[in-house]
Amino acid sequence: MKICVVGTGYVGLVAGTCFAESGNDVVCVDNVAAKIEALRQGVIPIYEPGLEELIRRNVAESRLAFTTDLAHEVERSPVIFIAVGTPSGDDGSADLSAVMSVAREIARVMDGYRIVVTKSTVPIGTHERIRSEIAGRTKHPFDVVSNPEFLKEGAAIEDFMKPDRVVIGASSPRAIDVMRQLYEPFVRTGNPILVMDNASAEMTKYAANALLATRISFMNEVANLCERVGADVDQVRRGIGYDRRIGHHFLFPGVGYGGSCFPKDVKAVIHTAHEHGMKFPLLNAVEDVNEAQKHLLVEKVTGEFGGDLAGRRFAVWGLAFKPRTDDMREAPSITIVEGLLAGGAEVAAHDPEALGEARKVFGDRVSYHRLNYDALEGADALLIVTEWNEFRRPDFPRMKRLLRRPVIFDGRNLYEPETMRQHGFTYLPIGRTAVRPAAA
Ligand SMILES: NC(=O)c1ccc[n+]([C@@H]2O[C@H](COP(=O)([O-])OP(=O)(O)OC[C@H]3O[C@@H](n4cnc5c(N)ncnc54)[C@H](O)[C@@H]3O)[C@@H](O)[C@H]2O)c1
Repeated sequence: MKICVVGTGYVGLVAGTCFAESGNDVVCVDNVAAKIEALRQGVIPIYEPGLEELIRRNVAESRLAFTTDLAHEVERSPVIFIAVGTPSGDDGSADLSAVMSVAREIARVMDGYRIVVTKSTVPIGTHERIRSEIAGRTKHPFDVVSNPEFLKEGAAIEDFMKPDRVVIGASSPRAIDVMRQLYEPFVRTGNPILVMDNASAEMTKYAANALLATRISFMNEVANLCERVGADVDQVRRGIGYDRRIGHHFLFPGVGYGGSCFPKDVKAVIHTAHEHGMKFPLLNAVEDVNEAQKHLLVEKVTGEFGGDLAGRRFAVWGLAFKPRTDDMREAPSITIVEGLLAGGAEVAAHDPEALGEARKVFGDRVSYHRLNYDALEGADALLIVTEWNEFRRPDFPRMKRLLRRPVIFDGRNLYEPETMRQHGFTYLPIGRTAVRPAAA
């Protein structure tokens, strides 16, 4: 099948590549010429495990190509996926200008039946807006399908190739049949393709992200209470996770959620609720808790070192909003590093993949280190912000030698407090009792 995917970001690039991998003829379109030029040269604009190799293979086998020429691809492709960004506007609503401009361009050039598929996360009712935008500009028949994407950055290929479920919001049997054909290769192990109306499909994506964000904020509150009452959130997490109504996923406390999705999607749900005369206080609380949690690590630092951090140096391990990505959008590390800098401290930062993106955020206000141990040299403490696998079993004696003071603020609870005490560290995790070496 000939497919056009508009938007070559984390979603569009992964979706286009995976559709090509299953044998389709895919062209990915973006309006940033430099990005398309780079992709044509084999330079992948994002870090996503496994993506580069898949792109190379599908380009080499002529199933995948890149262009800025949307009009030409609309003429050629019966199915067009819209996977452009939908960032938060000033009022918290999702900014649909990119989605709508693509819809208008499709309407302008389509010369026969087209299926327009929204992969971007869009507010409930957007399918109607797209429908009327296109219908007002063309006489040709078309269907609008709402097909939200649930992939996780860092595991995007795996998630797309083996989705827990595929959600298809549509009413036209013809469009539903085409969508089934496209997704069948990815659900061979029996995971469902759920067909529903467009509005429910749009709502499903927001409900999923809002619930996941709620779990994170809930566990962060539980962790903060654990610290005050002397309970261990790691034990509590296990204790509740075995309840099948709860499950083990998304129960890890930390430094707050970030990324390009949860913050904006929670805001968008609140905004949609307001538009319909509803307040949704639960999600306001989820946001408030998250905002406070992003400041927690720096509060712990000032609790230990005092409010004036001038002359202090801190190492930060992990800058991306989550491991296995280079995405810095709304990363809690931004709040944390800015907090340290505002206190007058120097920051020595390390991330396995996000140093380039981090430099766009912090410029030369921090020092960047390709090796995690290099960031520790002469630092008063280490802050762990993102749980990259390579941080899980480090050389503790080496860390202790490099640090000026053996203090670790662990925003991801990577280590056992007792082990850290034995290694001679002052160790301050989240929701667990801090430990200090016997002599300290
Ligand atoms: N990133 C994720 O993990 C994820 C997961 C599920 C859903 N989503 C949703 O998918 C959508 C895309 O997210 P993303 O992270 O891939 O965004 P992104 O910002 O990484 O990529 C968007 C791309 O669209 C391009 N673009 C913007 N306007 C365009 C236009 N008019 N014509 C052509 N190209 C245009 C941009 O240049 C960019 O390359 C968003 O709605 C997001 O909420 C994202």
